[in-house]
Amino acid sequence: MQDTIEFEPTAYHIKKSNEGAALDIKDFNLWYGEKQALFDNNLEIQKGQVTALIGPSGCGKSTLLRCLNRMNDLVDDLRIEGQITVDGFDIYAKGVDVIALRKRMGMVFQKPNPFAMSIYDNITYPLRVDGVTKKSILDETVERALQQSALWDEAKDRLNDSALGLSGGQQQRLCIARAVASDPEVLLMDEPCSALDPIATARIEDLIEELKGTYTIVIVTHSMAQAARVSDNTAFMYLGRLIEYGDTDTIFTNPRKSRTNDYVTGRFG
Ligand SMILES: Nc1ncnc2c1ncn2[C@@H]1O[C@H](COP(=O)(O)OP(=O)(O)OP(=O)(O)O)[C@@H](O)[C@H]1O
Ligand SMILES: [Mg+2]
Repeated sequence: MQDTIEFEPTAYHIKKSNEGAALDIKDFNLWYGEKQALFDNNLEIQKGQVTALIGPSGCGKSTLLRCLNRMNDLVDDLRIEGQITVDGFDIYAKGVDVIALRKRMGMVFQKPNPFAMSIYDNITYPLRVDGVTKKSILDETVERALQQSALWDEAKDRLNDSALGLSGGQQQRLCIARAVASDPEVLLMDEPCSALDPIATARIEDLIEELKGTYTIVIVTHSMAQAARVSDNTAFMYLGRLIEYGDTDTIFTNPRKSRTNDYVTGRFG
């Protein structure tokens, strides 16, 4: 596989009427120590839609996703250049409240990571940290979040049981419930189904379909089929660069770049 390729200008803008960009990534570069991992990324992520990030292992999908809610701040020796705005607001500006930002940008990880506490406490934890103590508010939030994550019927009679007693798929839906409990604007999902069986995966995919609109969703996935099923727009990354971004149907059926075509047709990856 060749390591250098010609890259066209990387400003991709999908214009859809009555919709704006929820997230705007501009001329974004990132280094882990000496090693550059993201190169001149430009991407507008549309409000209320599902955007998939695809590309071979190590191309920078998780790195880019983690920049969107500044999870990468926790990494030593990390340097960035460029800008990411949420509704026009620069998230890397001086004085930004990172905790508040992460509430607006809920995150779901590859491996379900419920806290070792009850189902109820998992969901109310972020509210209680904020000082919410009124039981009626906590109860309402638990029911809403579990309804939204399609877990209510399975969990309503065991709210005080440990979350660790749930199946993997249920745990992942609980993590989604926890993320939506603080009513974020954006949900960031990093391979949310890779630890799940096909039935649990299908439930999460249905859930993504239901949650979009209410939330802007960015999902990293290794599954072409999943990206094609759940996303409106797809961004293909390779070696830290954004190669092509567009309508998911176009990316999968009629991409402009041969490297995108090679990847989506399974010729490399
Ligand atoms: N904390 C870190 N410190 C140093 N280098 C890192 C760190 N995290 C990621 N990298 C490097 O940055 C590059 C992009 O990694 P990243 O995890 O974003 O890729 P990815 O596309 O999510 O891959 P995968 O599909 O395997 O999850 C890789 O070369 C990786 O080794
Ligand atoms: Mg990754």
